[in-house]
Amino acid sequence: ESTLTILGLETSCDETAASVVRRAADGRVEVLSSIVGTQFEQHAPFGGVVPEIAARAHVEAIDAVAAEAMRAANIGFDALDGVAATAGPGLVGGVMVGLAFGKAVALARDLPLVAVNHLEGHAVSARLGASIDYPFLLLLVSGGHCQLLEVAGVGACTRLGTTIDDAAGEAFDKIAKSLGLPYPGGPALEKLAASGDPTKFDLPRALLGRKDCDFSFSGLKTAAARLAEKITDDPQRADLAAAVQFAIARQLSERTDRAMKLYAAAHPRQDLRFVVAGGVAANSAVRAALQRNCADNGFSFDAPPLAYCTDNAAMIALAGAERLALGISDDLDAVARPRWPL
Ligand code: KG4
Ligand code: ZN
Repeated sequence: ESTLTILGLETSCDETAASVVRRAADGRVEVLSSIVGTQFEQHAPFGGVVPEIAARAHVEAIDAVAAEAMRAANIGFDALDGVAATAGPGLVGGVMVGLAFGKAVALARDLPLVAVNHLEGHAVSARLGASIDYPFLLLLVSGGHCQLLEVAGVGACTRLGTTIDDAAGEAFDKIAKSLGLPYPGGPALEKLAASGDPTKFDLPRALLGRKDCDFSFSGLKTAAARLAEKITDDPQRADLAAAVQFAIARQLSERTDRAMKLYAAAHPRQDLRFVVAGGVAANSAVRAALQRNCADNGFSFDAPPLAYCTDNAAMIALAGAERLALGISDDLDAVARPRWPL
């Protein structure tokens, strides 16, 4: 096993991203560059990501973004040991763009290709910012995902729970929209919630009797949308935003508490590590609730720096490097998969 320098590509949603990551034989990780080209302005007028616009924007951007990542890393293609591209899950038109680009580089430079699961990228992302050892319990909360995973390494993730309808970030975004807030709604809703009183509205508590670690946000979304229609003044809007944030943070916290107890029972006499990743990890109420979970259950708390929490290519490059280090790579006929559970 030796040092691996990997070009990573990420195009599964609305960011065209490329990154060069170096992984030393001892597992230490160095991010040489991480370029994220956002399509935010192209989607904003539609209040959400439009798949067809996303795919076209990836085609237009991928070449320049990848070149910029190589330039910023200050290396040539001959210094690469492999190429890693997201192969799913995600918007398949976009996934195909990054994967095809990765295949072209692999073919032209005679490099191994790793077709990376986007979720596995998020799963390893905490290791980009700090040296966190496997295994750990991961809460992945973004606009597209809401899952609790036991992460023992690449190719070794076990799902403890997932959402049966919307992701938490999706709930933040949709409820923000019904409150008249701009896209993406999560950060705007958090700002509005700061001046609100979360006890003024009573929102439904999903899957209360269940003992598993699954999530559900659609009932909350419907209830909040109905209440938002009746709201007449700004203080009430702030109160509803605060109640929504409280309800989402509470559900994330309740399921995480269950997962921590299961995980701790399965790993007696071991260091208990918890990581939260994904865009919703930026929410301070969510973070505070999860930190309390950690304190209650004896877990350490880690969250990747925000740049690696949201979609990026460094996490894809790292997942690729860790797979290559284990001798795993993919054929050039690897396919883009819209759905690909871990
Ligand atoms: O990880 P990410 O960039 O993209 C996906 O893979 O989905 O996550 C974006 C999601 C959006 O739904 C956004 O509204 C949410 O994360 N988000 C937040 C906050 N910042 C981002 N939600 C609540 N509070 C925030 N401060
Ligand atoms: Zn993501």
